Amino acid sequence: MCGIIGYTGPLMAKEILLEGLAQLEYRGYDSAGIALLADEGGAALNAGGAASTFSADSGVWPAALSGAGAMTAAEALGDTAHPTATGVRRRPTASHAGPSPITVIKKTGKVKGLRAYCGSLPVDGHCGIGHTRWATHGGVTDANAHPHQAGEITLIHNGIIENYQELIDTFHLQGKLLSQTDTEVAAWVLDALVREEVGDIAKAIARLLALIRGSYGFCILYASRPGEIYAVRNVSPLVASYTPSGALVASDLTAIIPYSRSYFVVPENALVRLTPYRIDVTGPEGDPITPEMLEVNWNVDAAMKNGYPHYMLKEIHEQPRAMENTILPRLDKGLPDFAQDGIPDAVFTGCERIHIIACGTAMHAGMVARSMYEPLLRIPVAVWVASEFRYEDPLVDGGTLAIVISQSGETIDTLAAMRLASEKGAATLSIVNVKGSTIARESDYAFYTHAGPEIAVASTKAYSVQLAALYLIGCRAAMLRGKYTPEEAKVFVTNLLDAIPAMEMMMGQKERIRGLTSHLIHEKDAFFIGRGLDYALSLEGALKLKEISYIHAEAHAAGELKHGTIALIAPLVPVVAIATQEHVFAKMISNIREVKARDAFVILVSKLSAPVGDGVANVRLSIPDLPDAFCVFPVVVFLQLLAYYAAVGKNLNVDQPRNLAKSVTVE
Ligand code: AGP
Repeated sequence: MCGIIGYTGPLMAKEILLEGLAQLEYRGYDSAGIALLADEGGAALNAGGAASTFSADSGVWPAALSGAGAMTAAEALGDTAHPTATGVRRRPTASHAGPSPITVIKKTGKVKGLRAYCGSLPVDGHCGIGHTRWATHGGVTDANAHPHQAGEITLIHNGIIENYQELIDTFHLQGKLLSQTDTEVAAWVLDALVREEVGDIAKAIARLLALIRGSYGFCILYASRPGEIYAVRNVSPLVASYTPSGALVASDLTAIIPYSRSYFVVPENALVRLTPYRIDVTGPEGDPITPEMLEVNWNVDAAMKNGYPHYMLKEIHEQPRAMENTILPRLDKGLPDFAQDGIPDAVFTGCERIHIIACGTAMHAGMVARSMYEPLLRIPVAVWVASEFRYEDPLVDGGTLAIVISQSGETIDTLAAMRLASEKGAATLSIVNVKGSTIARESDYAFYTHAGPEIAVASTKAYSVQLAALYLIGCRAAMLRGKYTPEEAKVFVTNLLDAIPAMEMMMGQKERIRGLTSHLIHEKDAFFIGRGLDYALSLEGALKLKEISYIHAEAHAAGELKHGTIALIAPLVPVVAIATQEHVFAKMISNIREVKARDAFVILVSKLSAPVGDGVANVRLSIPDLPDAFCVFPVVVFLQLLAYYAAVGKNLNVDQPRNLAKSVTVE
């Protein structure tokens, strides 16, 4: 939804914040801004070429952090111990030389525009916060960009404050606000509270959180506590790490991994205080909390483009490896085994119905699974758009298994739906790509996919590994429920693994696929049709195309077209027909003829051996003769590449499409 970063420590903060925002920009990119505890001393020190980077062995801190001349870490800490990544240290005895102004630099547009703007300003410091925004409250304007300031408070926010109007009234903020954002309201409220609490910022923040209804991830600077950053969250994600380079807090790991491989997830409603020397975590009652330290399970390169023109193309190509990394660790003698995931067999033997709950692409993966599960397991399987599930009254009880799918593990609709299912007695199994994410942590059981970081807003490898996870789960459930013999399960797993080279073969057709986009990019509409599992797949094809090429694309059950939508089929309107399911192949050919009769431009995707007569389609792409259920894997690569090259052909921003954000942590 939005990208947040905070840094305090011996290094100059501006570059750290800007680089971190560049890494977080996929989360939202309408506007960006930073706030710096401006530090002439630090800048002067830098200007003098003195060490502006902390080296633990020398222990020399820049003058700015102490307000005096350069001093050793021990002197700065007022005791003989040197700061370490762990352990408790007292605040520096020396106070900062006078009140440090907090300078805010912010503007609409991408981070690179902010960086250019910052470059012209000779301001820097050792402590600051940064934010890249996906607009919710208030339009895309400089004034609405974060950070927001009120009195001594400067803050950034990811989330939505639902009762902001009530707060405006209660705190008489009419006429004070410079923006249309709920975030600025929070800043003014906190400024009022910290004055009431005579500078006790922790108590003031606790009071603010008690007043707010909604979701938030805040990073806060308080001018009277220079060098300190306060962070707190409820639903919106925040991770933090203390390193020899200083203390960092961010929306996700991509901004932290250049400095540290160990981190912790900020506990909900706990107060995190970051100083150059340490990080304190305290609970709502002021009780000290020792958060669980986690290790990053991927490297910096994984979050870089590595020579690809776009993250999306890189991530499309990463799919075979991501599939292997997700499947192979869960095979024991060729059979699915979830011992390492801590998922007991009873989860699958004890359920009488399954609800699959997700949003967007993740929901489309669920649609494919449903097409396979119900015929196989012979129990009711429903797929829900999470935002609908929340406000329906679905049949959920102790015999229900809720499978919750989310790449980010932070999508608020999916999280809320999972919480509702759990309240109603369902067992919750999450399929998540981000380790330690909220949905993974709150679900009864978590099945982590190992796709590595997915940076492009348009989800690709996450979808494929979600399918792989769902297929393994379906296979294991079938075994445990006596629907598959071990031999049948082994064949299933073999077919799943055989789908991986078929994906690579489809990637080999990318230039041909690129050529097909000439039939799409000048059209206003495009249609994707299929039956059964191919219909589920066509939903994903339509979403991929529309979200990055802005071509209006619809998916339809092929048999349904004639009940209205076919009115939109006119000469040259592109129709992508997916026909890999043999039991309905003949029906698909009939449906293709119906649109062809109206001069649609038909791109047919079918198996190599499919009996396709001449003239049925304008273009035909063949996939290897895999068993029906496994055709989704090469076909989705085709759909992803088709969308990718259409967006490239229209010279659009493939990785950061307009109006979108990678993780939607607001309703
Ligand atoms: C897919 O290309 C989109 N980025 C979007 O539909 C996404 O799949 C959806 O927002 C769900 O996100 P999640 O998997 O992180 O929960």
